[in-house]
Amino acid sequence: MEFKLLPGGSIVGEARVAGDKSISHRSIMFASIAEGTTHIKGFLEGEDALATVAAFRAMGVRIDGPNDGEVVVHGVGLHGLKTPSAPLDMGNSGTSMRLISGIVAGAGLDATLTGDVSLCKRPMGRVINPLTEMGARIESEEQGRPPLRIHAGHPLKGIDYELPMASAQVKSCVLLAGLWAQGKTSTKEPAPTRDHTERMLKGFGYPIEHQGDRASLEGGHVLRACDIEVPADISSAAFFMVAASIAPGSDLTLFHVGINPTRVGVINILRLMGADIELLNEREIGGEPVADIRVRYAELKGIEIPEEQVPLAIDEFPVLFVAAACAKGRTVLRGAEELRVKESDRIASMAEGLATLGVQTEVLEDGIIIDGGTLGSGTINTYHDHRIAMSFAIAALRAEGEIRVLECDPVATSFPNFDAIARGLGLQITTLDAE
Ligand code: S3P
Repeated sequence: MEFKLLPGGSIVGEARVAGDKSISHRSIMFASIAEGTTHIKGFLEGEDALATVAAFRAMGVRIDGPNDGEVVVHGVGLHGLKTPSAPLDMGNSGTSMRLISGIVAGAGLDATLTGDVSLCKRPMGRVINPLTEMGARIESEEQGRPPLRIHAGHPLKGIDYELPMASAQVKSCVLLAGLWAQGKTSTKEPAPTRDHTERMLKGFGYPIEHQGDRASLEGGHVLRACDIEVPADISSAAFFMVAASIAPGSDLTLFHVGINPTRVGVINILRLMGADIELLNEREIGGEPVADIRVRYAELKGIEIPEEQVPLAIDEFPVLFVAAACAKGRTVLRGAEELRVKESDRIASMAEGLATLGVQTEVLEDGIIIDGGTLGSGTINTYHDHRIAMSFAIAALRAEGEIRVLECDPVATSFPNFDAIARGLGLQITTLDAE
């Protein structure tokens, strides 16, 4: 699938974007190992979260749906998961692989975790190391790449783990494994990362201490089924927040967006650039803060992005680079080496696409320098990365000519109806079958 975009337009109207990916994954995982039946609403029916559903079905959990965002999970408790009879295929989903590896190792199952070509290139040593320290036996391909073969018969003991990088996936993997471990498991992170795991464990009644950079829990307690309403994903909303900010005449309201403080880097950074963003109707649902977000066009200026914002906006940088390309002056990002190990090397793939459109950039080991200017036209490679595809679709609002974005199928991993919502709000986007 490819996107063809005509230049120009403005973003006007209202929308509710797809459900939060991180929370959707966790809702299935925690409900599966809880006692009782959990009802989920607003679930993201994207390929990544569906890979998590398939994995738990393969481990013997009855899951009804998703049906229009509703899912019913019949939990089997911490000791009810079954050994899967075939490798668990995580598709493109790093979250599935890293969190489920903690669950499989903790539950003491024999399982192979695999994925698509992109996932099989991503580093898993970051979860293999702490799990091995806890007592698990895991084999992988060279340099800790998937598939991962996790062996049964190795009970875990709790550890006090200091994360070498700011990663919610690694933190969550260790805490999840800790549910089955003997004694106490603690994590310490170098910078705050998304805390959906900590919040949702509390929601399922599991005792967890969470303060500052530390989270700790003891193995052997029980998760109790609860109802979950998944907010709209701020990472999906981000595309339209940037769209409305860069396209003159825009006025957009996005409903029911998750604004967990560990996820709002995109709002903070856009505001520093001069964006006009209002949070309306702020409320808390199921332990997660939510708001409607109104964004109107504003002239953006280049900034030095504060490093403490990096983990809070980690998935939003591709589209923030588009904002920077449309801003007046220079934007500098540093301290973002994690971008190099996402679904693609996002510094390299964005720099290449921006260069195609005639934007001046300088690539750094841990970031990028972008000089705002005029966007031309051209054909963009996405390197099979959903967020690269959607970012360049948004860039068309300020381009001088047509933009063609190749390899857009992975958009379905996180935001299946992106093109329909984009069209409804004013983007001149056509979806084409690849020749
Ligand atoms: C996620 C954590 C982040 C993020 C990913 C989802 C999660 O990954 O990029 O899209 O749900 O925990 P890292 O932990 O690798 O930073």
